[in-house]
Amino acid sequence: MVPIKLAKDIHWIGANVHTEDLFEGIWPIPNGVALNAYAIKGEKVAIVELVREWGGAALTFLENLKSLSIEPNKIDYIILNHLEPDHTGFTYILRSIAPNAEIVTTQKGSDLVDGFYGIKDKVMSVKTGDELDLGKGKTLQFFEIPHVHWPETMVTYEKESKILFAGDAFGAFGVHRGSIFDDETSEVVKPYWESEMLRYYANIIAMFSPNVIKAINSLSDLDIKTIAPSHGLVWRSSPDVVVRKYLRYANYNQDFAEPEICVVWGSMYGNTEKMLTSVLRGIASEGVSMNVHRVPHEDPSYILASAYKSAGLIIGCPTYEYSMFPPMKNFMELLQKKHVYYKKVLYFGSFGWSGGAQRDFEKLSENMKWDIIEPITFKGHPTKEELEKGESVAKDIARQVKEIPSKIKDEEY
Ligand code: FEO
Repeated sequence: MVPIKLAKDIHWIGANVHTEDLFEGIWPIPNGVALNAYAIKGEKVAIVELVREWGGAALTFLENLKSLSIEPNKIDYIILNHLEPDHTGFTYILRSIAPNAEIVTTQKGSDLVDGFYGIKDKVMSVKTGDELDLGKGKTLQFFEIPHVHWPETMVTYEKESKILFAGDAFGAFGVHRGSIFDDETSEVVKPYWESEMLRYYANIIAMFSPNVIKAINSLSDLDIKTIAPSHGLVWRSSPDVVVRKYLRYANYNQDFAEPEICVVWGSMYGNTEKMLTSVLRGIASEGVSMNVHRVPHEDPSYILASAYKSAGLIIGCPTYEYSMFPPMKNFMELLQKKHVYYKKVLYFGSFGWSGGAQRDFEKLSENMKWDIIEPITFKGHPTKEELEKGESVAKDIARQVKEIPSKIKDEEY
């Protein structure tokens, strides 16, 4: 891609990356990911965010600089809002070809610049409210938003254009499809962004939801015309839409989420699966929307997004050698890790020569703020009575979930 103008002398210079690699070494990105970076030209030249050497991104970034006639040794400032190496992996090399550039980040960011890249000199630490005058009317102002995503995170606001360079906040997985801008995104592509944004949020940001809410509140007095995150779309027509989306996601772990049920199941010999059939019948009888995922067949990244947005969560798996079926135990640990709170939850499953899955379920459910229905466990195969009970309990959960108001509003962009 070529540089794309956001405002006079402000351009997108990032890269869209398709790679076999997993994001953070964990999360699949079959649709790739956009590494957004930006160049601002005043009398001084500042680059906001970088890329990493990943799927040709570093070369694209350098070509974009060249297209704007920016020689690396003429870069005055490298603004690092967030030090995670998806954005900063190119720092060491860029600094070696842009020796005059001063790195600008928070105090905690400075420590990480040293930690990751061994760079100590020409690093400027800034804090909330500090300004950097680039000349020709371009002034940057910095605001710390700790833990959106890492503790060192800040955002950068360009005062003349009113663009907020937001780092991970308001980001998404997925490369740009046809345009980097919200208002050039067709109706056909919007579900793609909604889905990749939610999955990105659930995988990367969910644990820090209280900090997302705090950050949005702390920036509420800024006059923001455009939100330019480090991943996903640039929101120049409807920045308010992405703010509302992120607030909705952040509130999914502060209260019960959407009136849907996420069913996650695994079965060794078909006995737990028999109960699954009854449970699904119970949910269906109430007409509640359900998303059904099998472990270990489906990647946890997708199941996590589904569980995160659903008010109901049903976990079905057997005991495996004194404890919970391992892929489900891994998934439940992920739910803990990502603070997937406030769900109406049922566990069901088969055991044979010993129990153990229920004990693990109870332990892994501690401190999750879940409303837990009494588990349904059975030795070997479920009896007719147990199957009827499974259907009736699932029906009850579906009824409760139906009463929860949807947080999804029509959001035009
Ligand atoms: Fe896009 Fe937390 O890095």
